Amino acid sequence: MPQLRSRRILVTSALPYANGHIHLGHLVEYIQTDIFVRFQKLRGHRAIYLCADDTHGTAIMIRARAEGRSEKDLIAGMREAHLADFAGFQIAFDHYGSTDSDANRQRCGEVWQSLRARGLVTSREVKQLYDPVAGVFLADRFVRGTCPKCNAADQYGDSCEQCGATYSPADLIHPTSTLSGARPEVRSAEHLFVTLETLHEFLNEWTQHSGALDLQIANYLSGHFLGAPLRDWDISRPAPYFGFEIPDAPGHFWYVWFDAPIGYLAATSEWCDAHGESFDAWWRRGDANVPPAEIHHFIGKDITYFHTLFWPAMLEVAGLSLPSRVRVHGFLTINGQKMSKSRGTFVLARSYLDHLDPGMLRYFYASKLSGSIDDIDLNLEEFAAKVNSDLVGKVVNLASRTARWLEATGLSHTYPEDGGLFAQAAVDGVAIAEAYEQGDFARAMRTVMLAADRANVYVDTEQPWKLAKAGPESAGKLQDVASVAINLFRQLAVYLSPVLPHFSEQVGALVGGQITSWEESQRPLEGVAIGVFQPLMRRVEAAQMEAMLAASLQQSCKPVKETASMLTPPESDATRVAHTPIDSGEALAAEPLAPECTIDDFSKIDLRVARIVCAEEVAEAKKLLKLTISLGGDTVRTVFAGIKGFHTPESLVGRLVVVVANLAPRQMKFGLSEGMVAAASGAGAQGVYLLSPDSGALPGMRLH
Ligand code: MSP
Ligand code: ZN
Repeated sequence: MPQLRSRRILVTSALPYANGHIHLGHLVEYIQTDIFVRFQKLRGHRAIYLCADDTHGTAIMIRARAEGRSEKDLIAGMREAHLADFAGFQIAFDHYGSTDSDANRQRCGEVWQSLRARGLVTSREVKQLYDPVAGVFLADRFVRGTCPKCNAADQYGDSCEQCGATYSPADLIHPTSTLSGARPEVRSAEHLFVTLETLHEFLNEWTQHSGALDLQIANYLSGHFLGAPLRDWDISRPAPYFGFEIPDAPGHFWYVWFDAPIGYLAATSEWCDAHGESFDAWWRRGDANVPPAEIHHFIGKDITYFHTLFWPAMLEVAGLSLPSRVRVHGFLTINGQKMSKSRGTFVLARSYLDHLDPGMLRYFYASKLSGSIDDIDLNLEEFAAKVNSDLVGKVVNLASRTARWLEATGLSHTYPEDGGLFAQAAVDGVAIAEAYEQGDFARAMRTVMLAADRANVYVDTEQPWKLAKAGPESAGKLQDVASVAINLFRQLAVYLSPVLPHFSEQVGALVGGQITSWEESQRPLEGVAIGVFQPLMRRVEAAQMEAMLAASLQQSCKPVKETASMLTPPESDATRVAHTPIDSGEALAAEPLAPECTIDDFSKIDLRVARIVCAEEVAEAKKLLKLTISLGGDTVRTVFAGIKGFHTPESLVGRLVVVVANLAPRQMKFGLSEGMVAAASGAGAQGVYLLSPDSGALPGMRLH
């Protein structure tokens, strides 16, 4: 049945930052968007999936400096890595651009002109913290210091994790720059602003009544922002900044959140140029005869207000189409907790691909995504159980138990009587499609699995293996039973193909050819040949997941040697036996006791148990090893310790040590050192000995 009206649907995912690799949290979004686009294409609509790397801003500039290369070089390398990760997960963009492109510079200029023309740009002086050593203005998260409300040490520049207070970084007590350890200065510089309040009425209308947002999001915006006059949006940054210089304001750069969403427009124009399409046909409001294209943005909840206030405001001013839907999803947790580097649950796309089948994660996410803003949890036991029971146990099993009986004969020439199973599952297609359309992939998957259950009951009842043994008189019946099972199997593959593209290709190769249309779920195949059944998916084993977590723990801080065990403390050190069992007074004599201190003096020093999660050589340093230590949970620090030559990196990973946890960070030639590992040493070349707590001590415990 041809579609009554083929829709044109432009779909985007948020543009991933080019300063880090793709991880399993990101993939909640890219897999979800890819499923939606593949579904729309399968239904016969014209859908395009556009994305790009988000390349500008301070973080990229700092990282490039730290790595001693240019920003362009850094973002080019990261682009390759991102594209490889996405391809590994079968995420198929129609175009993948970059915010650092000519097309984007041009689109930014156009939107900027519209803002200027409407008189919406103003300028004023802004006081911001400036790092005099690094020579840059500091974004809030590059400043740490003592909370002005509760005096908790080592808090972020904009909010306190202890008491929840929010403040300006200039209010912090003892602020330090995390880039250089320097004390930041307050400097003032001119910034450009967009007077959003002018668009207040428009934003009220669009957020509350356009149908683009879920009620929960609309309420959040009216409760948090739209009830009061909108603050001007600070849209420029002074040099030095990696980004686009504003053409009519030399020395000023567009803030990364100005040029990032415009990257959606730039990606569209690049795609249009490559395909002979018109940009305006996708982004200008259509005339009465041509229905406008739909625009769907998929985003995480953390970037809601950029996409639901600033972005529609810019589009409105530029006279472009507004998003039809902004689809907001929650965050990924792993085993019920925030992804954590020190727990090994900060899993990169690459680490997953090294150990597990990408289709399994796609299916698992689909089965969890309901279109709501709730966080979704990847519980690893549940993951294995679900994938093994649904995909391997229900879907693949259907074919593995029946395909071989058809190798010689092919499918029955007339689709056999099946008790209405195929017809029932064909009718289910309406509900499944509806669920996909709403972004309720979980419901779609449940409906598909119910159909799979019915099909398996059919096979269990008909027992084709008994028919096979019964001899030639049962051959016709056997062919019919197997034909029903294989048809029901292929019907499931059609419904699952947006989620499992690779699997569906394999099914197409086995029987019936490539799946290209949803309509293929509506009529059974008759009289066609069948290929040789290949195992389509294997069960997940716990060992694969353990290997992935171990690799992630390594990954999170650039690996030491692959062999290091991350979880069990290493054998005791060879260097440890080198000291004499008869305790001479030599060491004490060489370094006499320090002057007396009070208990108050002592309690200023916060000594903690910590675990070394990573140890690396510092190539240019004679004495230093770079250690990443965990104080438990998400708290990890980098410490440079003068222990090279006494310990190999591999021997350190996993062991517990004692650290001075509240030592002011110190900028060293090789990076920032955020603490000190306690070690004993004597005068001369007697060695360096790390302290270890008795077993049972845990990272984060304080020494009293
Ligand atoms: N560069 C901005 C987006 C600009 S869009 C014009 C950005 N990049 S990001 O790399 O931090 O995130 C990209 C997307 O991945 C965002 O939608 C974000 O919400 C999502 N996620 C990042 N971590 C996530 C989880 N742990 N869980 C779910 N989604 C997550 O934001
Ligand atoms: Zn506080």
